[in-house]
Amino acid sequence: MITKESPIGVIDSGIGGFSVARKVQKLMPHENLLYLGDGANTPYGNHSAEEILTMTRYMLRFMEDHGVKALLVACNTISCLIDQYRDEMSCPVLSVVQAGADAVAQLPAHKVGVISTCFTASTHCYPDLIGKVAPDKQVISHGCPNLANLVERNVGNPAGQAAIDDDLRENLEQLVNEEKVECCVLGCTHYPLVEENINRLYPQLKLVDPAEQMARTVGRYLEEKGLVNDQPGQGKLDIFTTGSTEEYTMKAAKVGLDPVTSVQFYPPMKL
Ligand code: DGL
Repeated sequence: MITKESPIGVIDSGIGGFSVARKVQKLMPHENLLYLGDGANTPYGNHSAEEILTMTRYMLRFMEDHGVKALLVACNTISCLIDQYRDEMSCPVLSVVQAGADAVAQLPAHKVGVISTCFTASTHCYPDLIGKVAPDKQVISHGCPNLANLVERNVGNPAGQAAIDDDLRENLEQLVNEEKVECCVLGCTHYPLVEENINRLYPQLKLVDPAEQMARTVGRYLEEKGLVNDQPGQGKLDIFTTGSTEEYTMKAAKVGLDPVTSVQFYPPMKL
């Protein structure tokens, strides 16, 4: 049975969803969170749509079995395919791409850049969804072939920062200095984890992290349904990964997740 104490589920191909989980922890500190990252199969952006759907269904079952009261799809790549699996869950399923589009709609900017995985860019889901909620915007979408993977591997590793910076320059130079976008959506949840790198390289560029909008949307839903967790203490965060629990423990701390109640292994699905 779903109660106020039931956790909010968060899924991602890897550690990218930490950027959403930490925002929820900040805005709704009393909520319990249950995180699943498919560390064994990340990055999803390099798989076919069929494989992504199969791996997503595996994660949905996990969340359904744990009775989450809402599910945050904290992966843009998975969110692009949301219409094909939303009805399989008994709780509401929120898309981070929709959150990004809703965040853009509130901005005065006219020319909007979006960086994402190549898969997300190939589906046109950002231009399509922004077009629905803010038809006056011009959207320039750019796929980054390797950035999510680089961030996944190098969070908390000082020696990996130069490679991340080089990749960011390669992917942002044209959007910033030729297209002159007025803001840029971080259309992959891994990218806010290197927001400091982007701010250092492009201090004038306004960044849009869909996580805040996503946290607000789920907060509104919980209020409407009387499902806000009103426990006095801080909520739990239980992290499951199909990859290395040691790495997840270290990276969760590096990106500022606090508290982390447990980090546990969950067997990966075999493709
Ligand atoms: N964090 C995921 C996203 O937002 C990364 C996708 C991937 O694994 O390719 O798209």
